[in-house]
Amino acid sequence: MIEAKGLSKLYGPFRALDKVSFQVKRGEVVGFLGPNGAGKSTTMRILTCFISATGGTAKVHGVDVFDDPLEVRRKIGYLPQRAPLYGEMTVWDYLQFTSDMRGLDPSTFKSRMKRIVEVCGLAKVLGKDIRQLSHGYRQRVGLGQALVHDPPILILDEPTSDLDPNEKAEVIRYIQEIGKDRTVLLSTHNLAEVEAACARAIIVSKGRVVADGPLSDIRAKSGTVRYLVTIHEQKLYEGSEAYRAGSTRRPPSSDEVSEALGALPGVQRVRELPTDDKAHAFELSGALGGDLREAIFQLVVQKGWLLLEMRRESQTLEDVFKALTRGDERADRGRPLLAEDDDAAAVGGAAAGAAALASAADEDEDEDEDEDEDEADEGDDDAAEENGGDDESDGDDENDDDGDDDDADDDAKGKKDGR
Ligand SMILES: Nc1ncnc2c1ncn2[C@@H]1O[C@H](COP(=O)(O)OP(=O)(O)O)[C@@H](O)[C@H]1O
Ligand SMILES: [Mg+2]
Repeated sequence: MIEAKGLSKLYGPFRALDKVSFQVKRGEVVGFLGPNGAGKSTTMRILTCFISATGGTAKVHGVDVFDDPLEVRRKIGYLPQRAPLYGEMTVWDYLQFTSDMRGLDPSTFKSRMKRIVEVCGLAKVLGKDIRQLSHGYRQRVGLGQALVHDPPILILDEPTSDLDPNEKAEVIRYIQEIGKDRTVLLSTHNLAEVEAACARAIIVSKGRVVADGPLSDIRAKSGTVRYLVTIHEQKLYEGSEAYRAGSTRRPPSSDEVSEALGALPGVQRVRELPTDDKAHAFELSGALGGDLREAIFQLVVQKGWLLLEMRRESQTLEDVFKALTRGDERADRGRPLLAEDDDAAAVGGAAAGAAALASAADEDEDEDEDEDEDEADEGDDDAAEENGGDDESDGDDENDDDGDDDDADDDAKGKKDGR
């Protein structure tokens, strides 16, 4: 239903898209993920014929966007990042207006409205001026606008940014409903939404596709599993053989535990976690296919340590997302490119995704901060026009093109915490 082949887009000398290729099949709901500035909106604007690509081709419903943009627009419902709503119109008038623009006759409009009101939850606000509506309702009106001509394909550009958590959840519910009988490409940087609404995701970073596939494959992309192990800091297990034999009567130091865990076959990396003062807590990583719990348990028994907690966790989509896209942020912050191993790897962004993943968890604090900033940047839902994106240069990663290569999976080797 959607096919992008080698799409490139230059804004002046700046390369916003670099050979982006992907396909979306009939009936799929695909998450289009990437940090701000990755090229999501640019791609969507090309697919919806608002701007033209500098290179490559795109087809929607089998029709080339360059050859027949009108036909493409008939097949697509598009909710731009800043929805073109008119505050002084009522919801009903606005939807009627978009329907007129689409050339629908009044009776078709009325019958469509029934379904739209139901699918987008608009019954209570049809007579209200759009300017009186909350953000959440405005986005639902935006969805309604995208559905008025009953298109088989929907392209939704960050439909939930700017919404509060309840509104987000609601809009996602409506999108799930809409996705039952349509093909949907949904851009977002909210991973929970992708988990909720999509079976497949495409991750873009700096104008390139860095991952594409079912969510389970993308989660597995990191190639590692995480273990959390917590050992009592002040006590030993007095029933243990080691204790009874008197070979250990002293609780272990964190270095001892760390070293012993790190020496287990299959452990790729050990990192101490902050915890209360009675325990040593560690995060280990090991290969995806393996299970280190038995070895960890046996080590603990043999040493006579008192095990407080052990957990095995698959990598989350969020871990993979961070690892694959975090080169952007590092470069933005002007961190020295070659100062330390981890950084050198991370600056490659996509290129060093898996290597970066090994230390991605260290960045939690930093990156949460960034997300907040990103969200704050996106105010302004009143803008009435689709404007080709001139207002979006909010300083994410423009002008830094540091020539990463695409192979994100090469170096899955873990590294010890570099900070
Ligand atoms: N009209 C424009 N002129 C110059 N640069 C632009 C324009 N639109 C977008 N960009 C830049 O292109 C990059 C990709 O932008 P965009 O597609 O909006 O990213 P996303 O939607 O993923 O946040 C960004 O670095 C952005 O600043
Ligand atoms: Mg965007």
